[in-house]
Amino acid sequence: MPNRYLIANWKMNVPPEGIERYFDALGEAGEGNGQLVVAPPFLYVPEVVRLVRDRVPRAAVAAQNCGDKPSGAFTGEVSPVMLRYHGVGHVIIGHSERRNLFGESDALIARKLTAALDAGLTPVLCIGEDLKVREAGRVSVFLADQIKAAASEALESAREVIVAYEPIWAIGTGRNASGAMVAETVAMIRESLGRFWPARYGQQAPILYGGSVTPDNISDLAANGNIDGYLVGGASLDSGKFLAINAGM
Ligand code: PGA
Repeated sequence: MPNRYLIANWKMNVPPEGIERYFDALGEAGEGNGQLVVAPPFLYVPEVVRLVRDRVPRAAVAAQNCGDKPSGAFTGEVSPVMLRYHGVGHVIIGHSERRNLFGESDALIARKLTAALDAGLTPVLCIGEDLKVREAGRVSVFLADQIKAAASEALESAREVIVAYEPIWAIGTGRNASGAMVAETVAMIRESLGRFWPARYGQQAPILYGGSVTPDNISDLAANGNIDGYLVGGASLDSGKFLAINAGM
């Protein structure tokens, strides 16, 4: 299991004609640091899996979301079993955009986490507070609640669950958390993982940071953040910026 990750979250971006060029650039670059993972929109998955296999074999492919059941009458959903079948290895679960724009509840996110693990995927569980919570000094309690709500029996036998700390006020805003603030928050997250999940997660779960990560702020985050990698949105759309983050992490 790699212990450092760099995940590109394309969200609903990258035009079809840009896909091949992106992986050519990744394939031509040097090794960088950590496991590269690219999370394209669902429809691009088969093409991205093929491009990764042929041109960037050191990378892996993630989905941005999945359904909470292996199959059934759920119009518009994509099952984690289907993702696995197509060569996806990781799945982002509980991104704040899913929670806030699409109304995903803690209970639904817990079911998705279980369904992803049952299908053999490695979940990347996103947690993070908004500005009101941070200003009220309630970050620790808020994150503990999100961690507690995602706990399930499936965690007992899981090989790996990645946790991404993504403060909502930093996502897509150009305002990143400082390395020192991330380190302090990661300590809170480890404490809650050890308390509400099987104890080993407190020590071993890779914890990533996400929220306006760029080539400009990666050195502070890498030096002071005490983190195991990054989940990158905006800056991951430009292969040059994504590779610069990979080199600097
Ligand atoms: P951002 O997005 O890098 O554009 O802030 C991060 C994320 O939403 O995962």
